[in-house]
Amino acid sequence: MAVVPYKDNSDSKRVQVETMFDNIAPKYDFLNHTLSAGIDVLWRRKAIKILQAKNPKTILDIATGTADFAIEAIALNPDKIIGVDISEGMLAIGRKKIEKKNLQQRIVLQNGDCEKLDFANNSFDAITCSFGVRNFEHLQLGLAEMLRILKPNGTLVIIEFAQPEKFPIKQVYNFYFKRILPVIGKLISKDTAAYTYLPDSVKAFPYGAEFVGILSSLGYTNCKAISLTFGVANIYTASK
Ligand SMILES: C[S@@+](CC[C@H](N)C(=O)[O-])C[C@H]1O[C@@H](n2cnc3c(N)ncnc32)[C@H](O)[C@@H]1O
Repeated sequence: MAVVPYKDNSDSKRVQVETMFDNIAPKYDFLNHTLSAGIDVLWRRKAIKILQAKNPKTILDIATGTADFAIEAIALNPDKIIGVDISEGMLAIGRKKIEKKNLQQRIVLQNGDCEKLDFANNSFDAITCSFGVRNFEHLQLGLAEMLRILKPNGTLVIIEFAQPEKFPIKQVYNFYFKRILPVIGKLISKDTAAYTYLPDSVKAFPYGAEFVGILSSLGYTNCKAISLTFGVANIYTASK
C-alpha cells in the first residue's frame, strides 16, 4: 500500500502530497537546512557539478518546490531553467527567492504534475529532480514522462534519500530520522504528519541498485548511483 502523509484521509497520494507541501511551504527551507545541518545544500551543489561537463542549455527541474535546485543550476549558465511542481504554496516561496536574486528572466516556475507534463518530446538537455521522486503517486509514470521530454543524449540527475546500511551510522541515523526529526518537524511546521511521512516514505522507497534497475528498465542508459554522506542519500544519473 502506498505511503501517504495523512493515513486516515481517503484522498489520492498526489492530493495529500500537494496539501502537505502547501501546509509546510513557509517553514520548508528553514526545516530543510536545519534538520540536515545544511548538508542538503552541498548535495545539490555536487549534483549540479555532475552536469557541468554536459553544458546543458535547457534544464527542467521537476518537483522544484521552493526552487533551491533550480537556483543552484544557474551555475551551469544555461539559457533557460523551468521548474515545475504541484504545490502552489511551494512555488510561491520559490518565485519570491528567484525575484530576490533577480533571476526571473532565467528561471520560470510553473504548476505541473510529473506524470503528465505539458512539454513536447525531446525538449530538454537536462532534467533534475531533488527529493521529489519519492513523493510521486506513480513513480514509473513520472520517470517515463521525464524520459519522453529529455533530448537524446540528455542527462537526468536525481537526488533522493536512501537508507544507510552500516553499523553504527544506520542505528544513529535511524534514531535521529524516526525519533528526533518528526518531533522538531511537527513543532515548527505545525503539520501533524509531514515529518512522520518523511521517514516512512524513505523506508518504503527503492534506493541504490533497485532504483538504478527501475531507470534501466524504463529505457534510460548509463544509469548510476552515487552514495552521499554514509549512504543517507544518493545522486542518480542516467542518459537518454
Ligand atoms: C521534498 S520537496 C523537494 C523540493 C525541492 N526539489 C528541494 O530540493 O528542496 C518535494 C516536492 O515534490 C513536489 N511533488 C510531489 N509530487 C509531485 C508531482 N506529481 N509532480 C510535481 N511535483 C511533485 C511537492 O509538491 C514538493 O514541492
